[in-house]
Amino acid sequence: MSTLYEVRGSSAVITLNNPPVNGLGLATRQAIVAAIERAEADPVVTAVVMTGAGAAFSGGADIKEFGSPKAMSEPNLPSVVALVEACSKPVVAAVHSVCMGGGLELALSCHYRVVAAGTKVALPEVKLGLLPGAGGTQRLPRALGVEAALNLIVSGEIVAAELLAQVPGQKLFDRVVAGEVLEAALAFAAEVAAQRPLPRVRDLPATHANPEAFFQFARNMVAAQSRNFPAPLRCLEAVAAAVNLPFEQGLRAEREGFAALMITPESKALRHAFVAERAASKIADLPPGTPLREIRQVAVIGAGTMGSGIAMNFLNAGLPVVLVESQAEALERGLARIRGAYEAQLSKGKLKQDKLDARLALLRGSLSYADIAEADLVIEAVFEDLDVKRQVFEQIDAAAKPGAILASNTSTLDINTIAGFTRRPQDVLGLHFFSPAQVMKLLEVVRGAATGHDVLATAMALAKKIRKTAVVAGVCDGFIGNRMIEQYARQAGFLLDEGCSPEQVDRAAEAFGFAMGPFRMNDLAGNDISWAIRKRRAIERPEQRYSQSADRLCERGRFGQKTQAGWYDYRPGRREALPSPEVAALLAEHRAALGLQPRQIRDEEIVERLVLALVNEGARLLEEGIAQRASDIDMVYLSGYGFPLWRGGPMCYADSLGLFNVLQAMKRLARNPMDDAAFWEPAPLLQRLVAQGKSFNG
Ligand code: 3HC
Ligand code: NAI
Repeated sequence: MSTLYEVRGSSAVITLNNPPVNGLGLATRQAIVAAIERAEADPVVTAVVMTGAGAAFSGGADIKEFGSPKAMSEPNLPSVVALVEACSKPVVAAVHSVCMGGGLELALSCHYRVVAAGTKVALPEVKLGLLPGAGGTQRLPRALGVEAALNLIVSGEIVAAELLAQVPGQKLFDRVVAGEVLEAALAFAAEVAAQRPLPRVRDLPATHANPEAFFQFARNMVAAQSRNFPAPLRCLEAVAAAVNLPFEQGLRAEREGFAALMITPESKALRHAFVAERAASKIADLPPGTPLREIRQVAVIGAGTMGSGIAMNFLNAGLPVVLVESQAEALERGLARIRGAYEAQLSKGKLKQDKLDARLALLRGSLSYADIAEADLVIEAVFEDLDVKRQVFEQIDAAAKPGAILASNTSTLDINTIAGFTRRPQDVLGLHFFSPAQVMKLLEVVRGAATGHDVLATAMALAKKIRKTAVVAGVCDGFIGNRMIEQYARQAGFLLDEGCSPEQVDRAAEAFGFAMGPFRMNDLAGNDISWAIRKRRAIERPEQRYSQSADRLCERGRFGQKTQAGWYDYRPGRREALPSPEVAALLAEHRAALGLQPRQIRDEEIVERLVLALVNEGARLLEEGIAQRASDIDMVYLSGYGFPLWRGGPMCYADSLGLFNVLQAMKRLARNPMDDAAFWEPAPLLQRLVAQGKSFNG
C-alpha cells in the first residue's frame, strides 16, 4: 500500500508509504487522491492530517519514473496538489525528516503545516536540471517571501525547517515542534477543524518592493554562476512570474518551464548522475545486509603525497590514524604536510581552530609496524614498486591483527599479486585514491579475486563515511579511470603529430567542458609519470603505436609544472600555462623527422577523437567486467577526471550521440591515414549494442 489511511478521533490520517523516501510515483499519487476522496466523504472526519512513513515526509517526485509515461500520467503531481488544496476540510501536513521537491509542493498545498525541528527542507529540482513543477515556484514565494524563496529554488540547497521558520513574516510553517510531529499535527487539526475560510497559500501576495531591479540583479548573478546549465535562469523566471502574473498564469509559466527543461540534455545528464551515483554503491553479487567489519582505527603506511592526503580523510571523519614511515625525515615531512594543509584551511576560514586541534589530536606518527597492531584498516601508500610492496605487505601481515582490512593505494600493480604477499588474501583489496586525496571525490575500490564480501561491503560503507564517490573496479592495469585516460592521452599525442599545438587541443577539450585539457593535465601530474608507463608499454606491447613527441619532451627534462617547463612554459611559482616556442619547435622537428605534413584540424575533430577514445576503452572495460555498469564509468569520469557534469560522463554522452553514430565515427576515424587504424577498432560490445539498437546505459 503506497498510502495508509486511518481515522483517529475526528481526523483522517493519510500516511505516504512508498519507501525509501515516499517518492510521489503514480501509485502513490493515485492513493493520495483516493484517500482525500474518502476523507471528504466520511461524515466523522472534520480534518485531515497528511504525513509520511519512515524517514521522510516525502523526497518529492519519483525520480526513477522520469522519462517514462508514468511520470505525467494523471493524476499528475500538479493535479494532486490542486485536489488537496481544494479539499473542503482542513488539511494539515505533519512534516518531518525530509521534505523536498514535490514533497514540499504537496505540503504547500495543504492548508496548514506543522513541522518537526531538524526537518531537511528543499526545492532541489534545479540540481536535476529542472524547476519545481507542481506549484513550488508560485507558492513558496507567497509563503516565504520572494527573496528567500528565490535563493532556495535557484540553489536547491537544503535548509533546516527551524531556520526557515525564523524568516520574518513567513507563512511556510504554522508550528515547529521538538517532539512527536504527528501528535502535534493531530492536536493542531482539532484546533482548526471548524475554521473557515480555509487558508490557501495561493491567496497570499507575492510581492517585492522593487521587483524589476531585484530580478535584473539576480538574473546577472545567476547567469554568471550557471554557465552550461539552463535550469537556474528558468527557475528565476518562474519566480519572477509569481510576482508579475496572476497565480494561474504563473502556474502555466512554471509548467512550460518544467516541460522545456525536462527534455534538455543537461537535465538528462544530471538525472543520470543522480541515479548513477547511487547505483555505484550497489554490487551485483553482494546481498544487502552483508555484514560489515567495524572500523575504529586506521593505519596508513607511507607519509608521501598520497599517504598524508589519505590520512586526512579519516581524521576529518573523526577516526584515529597512525601514519607509519620507514624514514624519520619522511615522517616529519608527511606530518608537516598534514598540519600545513589544515592550517591553510584555517587561514581561509574553512576550518575552525578547535576542529583543527581535534583532528590533529587523532593523528600519530610512527616508524614501527608494531604500532599498526590495533588498526582495523591498514592502507599502504609507499613507492610504486612491486618489491617494496612485497616487503611492506609481509610486514603488515605480520603486525596487523586478525580481521583487519589490508588495502593498497597502488595505481598500476596487480592487487591479486599483492594479496599473495599475505596469508590472508580475503582481507586485501585496492583503495585507489586520487591526488590530492583529501580533496578528490573519487575512490576506486579494487576487488581482488579473493576479496571477501564483507571486506568489499565495509570499504563501500567507509567510502560513504569519508564522503567519497566509490566505484568498484576489477583488477587490471590502470583500473577504470587510468586505463581509459591512457587511450585519451595516446589520441592527444596523435593530434600533435598531425598538426595541432598543445594549446589548441587543450582549448578544444576545455571548451567541450573538461576541467583541464590533456596537456595542462599532464603538466600538472608530471610528464615523467606517463613517460615511465610508456617505457613499460614499449616492452609489454611493442606493436602499439604512440606519439613519441612526449618522449622528446621528457628527454629535455620538461616534466611539467614541477620543472617549470612541460608542454607549456611556467614562470617561477606560477601555475599559468604559457605557450612554449621551444615545444612548438620540438613538435615541428618531430613531424619533419617522421615525414608528416601538418594539417589544420577542427576543434570538433579534436573533441570527437579524445572523447571516443574514452568511450571505446570504456566499452572494453564493461565487456571484461572490470566495470560493473556503464554508469559506474560515468561516475569515475565525473568525480575524478573533470568530465563535464552537464554531459553526464563519457558513456552517457556516447548514448546521447547515438551508438550507431559513434560506431560510424570510429570507422571514419580509422580511415584517416595519419591516425592509427588499430586504435579505432570498435570494441565488440559497442558493435553488439549497435546491432541490437541498444545504448550503454540501457
Ligand atoms: N524519488 C525516488 N527515489 C528517491 C528519491 C526520489 N525523489 N530521492 C531519493 N530516492 C532514493 C534513492 O535513489 C536511494 O535509492 P536506493 O536506496 O535504491 O539507491 C534512496 O532513496 C536513498 O537515497 P540516498 O542514498 O540519497 O539517501 P540519503 O539519506 O543520503 O538522502 C535524500 C535522502 C535527501 C532524499 C536524497 O536522496 C535526495 O536529495 N533526493 C533527491 C530529492 C529530489 O531531488 N527531489 C526532487 C525530485 S524532482 C520533483 O520533485 C519534481 C516536482 O517539482 C514536480
Ligand atoms: P611518494 O613518493 O610521495 O611517497 C611514498 C612514501 O612511502 C615515501 O614517503 C617513502 O618514504 C615511503 N616509504 C617507502 N617505503 C616504505 C616502507 N617500507 N615503509 C613505510 N614507508 C615507506 O609517493 P606517492 O605519490 O604518495 O605514491 C604512493 C602510492 O600511491 C604509489 O603506489 C602510487 O602509485 C600511488 N598513487 C599515487 C598517486 C599520485 O598522484 N601521486 C595517485 C594514486 C595513487
